[in-house]
Amino acid sequence: MDYKKISPYKHIIHTKQLNKDYLFKLFKIIEKLKTKKIKKTLKGKIVALLFYEPSTRTKFSFESAIIRLGGDIISTENASMFSSFVKKETIEDTMRMVNKYADALVIRCKDDLYPTKALSVAEIPVINAGSGTTQHPTQSLLDVYTIYEKFKKIDNLNIVFVGDLLRGRTINSLLYILAHYNNTFTFVSVENSQISNEMKAFLKEKDVSYTETDDLKDVIKNADVCYMTRVQEERFDNADEYEKAKGQFIMTGELANTMKKESIILHPLPRVDEITHDVDLNSRAWYFKQAENGLYARMALLLMLDYK
Ligand code: CP
Repeated sequence: MDYKKISPYKHIIHTKQLNKDYLFKLFKIIEKLKTKKIKKTLKGKIVALLFYEPSTRTKFSFESAIIRLGGDIISTENASMFSSFVKKETIEDTMRMVNKYADALVIRCKDDLYPTKALSVAEIPVINAGSGTTQHPTQSLLDVYTIYEKFKKIDNLNIVFVGDLLRGRTINSLLYILAHYNNTFTFVSVENSQISNEMKAFLKEKDVSYTETDDLKDVIKNADVCYMTRVQEERFDNADEYEKAKGQFIMTGELANTMKKESIILHPLPRVDEITHDVDLNSRAWYFKQAENGLYARMALLLMLDYK
């Protein structure tokens, strides 16, 4: 099967661009990848990884996906230290070079605008592997697939989002996808970490209703999905504000047991202290399965790109 003809997208930059049809097709390919051997269709292709921010899961799973599909990788260990970014090269000039050396670019960066700037001169597919505080499209694909894998649907679910909803890009990115479906959202955060006005405006525009609270114990009982997140220490301007936000919402084994038996706990990882280790053995703990799905979601996405 020629997967390339399936994707309507040359680039994967923002979750706003991803429609239901794309997701459905991606899910089907993920399911095939999980059960069958797949042809090495990336043979002869080189994918460049340009990561300006740290990563374990995204970088390794992309590398593993590329290698498993028969492709090759070029990368810099830490682009903010070892690429010509240090010499003040613009992302546009870097992209002009990558155009000639690779068949696709995977980029992670602090600046929300970097992937779009790269795109302005890109001749090859560009994949956003996490930018700023709002976007992490490939994480969103594996998140939404994990919900689908568990419930066989992505609508009519009670989804509770917990933690740094202002600075955490995984939740913001995922909401752009989940807003296509009819779900109930509850946002649990402290005052300085509430969902942004921009996201509230988007939800309003899509006619999506939501509740905000700081009472995790109360809302967790009826949740189908509890999506925990780390307080993003590196994205706070002020240490005092971080102190106010950290350690406020902790999923313990005891709290997890108050959730419905068929509910799941997700977390994009890495975690700090927001999920205690005794939760790991709870049947509701799906965050490692979620991270594993990252490999298959990224393989599917790479298969669907058009490299010409
Ligand atoms: N979830 C996620 O993006 O993890 P990494 O930062 O380790 O890639």
